Amino acid sequence: MTEMQRLIDQLEEKGELTREEYVALLSQLNKEDIQYLRVKACRVAKEHFGNRIYTRGLIEFTNYCKNDCYYCGIRRSNRAVDRYRLTKEQILACCREGYQLGFRTFVLQGGEDTSYSDEDMIELIHQIKQEFPDCALTLSIGEKSYESYLRYFQAGADRYLLRHETADEAHYAKLHPANLSLKNRKECLYNLKKIGYQVGAGFMVGSPYQTYDNLAEDLIFLKELSPEMVGIGPFLPHHQTPFAMEAKGSLELTLVLISILRLMLPDALIPATTALGTIHPLGREEGILSGANVVMPNLSPTSVRKKYELYDNKICTGDEAAECRFCLDGRMKKIGYELAVDRGDYKTRMQTKLQRSSSGL
Ligand code: 5AD
Ligand code: FES
Repeated sequence: MTEMQRLIDQLEEKGELTREEYVALLSQLNKEDIQYLRVKACRVAKEHFGNRIYTRGLIEFTNYCKNDCYYCGIRRSNRAVDRYRLTKEQILACCREGYQLGFRTFVLQGGEDTSYSDEDMIELIHQIKQEFPDCALTLSIGEKSYESYLRYFQAGADRYLLRHETADEAHYAKLHPANLSLKNRKECLYNLKKIGYQVGAGFMVGSPYQTYDNLAEDLIFLKELSPEMVGIGPFLPHHQTPFAMEAKGSLELTLVLISILRLMLPDALIPATTALGTIHPLGREEGILSGANVVMPNLSPTSVRKKYELYDNKICTGDEAAECRFCLDGRMKKIGYELAVDRGDYKTRMQTKLQRSSSGL
């Protein structure tokens, strides 16, 4: 057994490592070590979730954004973006279609668009939860006040996705303009937790200026926050951003990080993201085989999909992508998994065990 394999065992046992150990792990794994890590992470995911992959129907409802993140294709300063907003009726129509297709979670994701007031969001949340009481509703609409988060939660929102992007102050400042701060981002995440949301954090792998030390910081922060969901994907440049000429992140490192996260947070809901499917045609399949357990097919109307381009060559934006669910169903079957028709809530292993024993399984 190699030194790295011993570290991997230790990670599985303790659920965490020191900063130095994370850096060692990220920088020194050889091919066999990676295989060792991946098999372990995949086994942990299988023990908890079986071969069922949770799905979330992603509705990208607005590409207006008041922010100017340097990496993001729909940043405010990108004048070339054809901006759109879906109406409440259009959003509800996406949910209806999604429900027919078997989705029991809808994710409303958008730029930070000030034209939707809290009242607008609350009305939308009410309508969706009223029409689909058996579905979970996830919001992904950026940084808001405690009060706003509370009101959305009281209106019926169940989950919230807000990637922290990087847990290092100096690195955060290299990816964002000065009006955005890591401190506020973290405060939002803690507020969301406190209110009772199932919370998703996460980061990009290989974003410009990122070091192994930064990634170790991300892992330490995630362990401390212990979110119910963790979304990660490779950084991919967008040609109309300040990072147009930067190198993309690495598929291999992203997969290694998914495996590490699975061992750190065995119960967490971890998606094989669209960015992973963009960097490699089989990226999402690889993500599942590295310990991820969620996919997020696109439910947005095909007419707007190309306009929600966070990075170049984003998949699922063509006409052939009308039913990503079927596409992913086939992809998952090919690797021995199946999509679940289920809200796919966060459960601890203890809850899963109790449930299994009470239903006589
Ligand atoms: N490459 C990869 N991921 C990106 N995101 C935004 N821009 C990019 C990019 N260029 C991710 C961010 C954000 C999520 C919605 O998409 O992490 O939180
Ligand atoms: Fe969208 Fe395959 S999942 S086209």
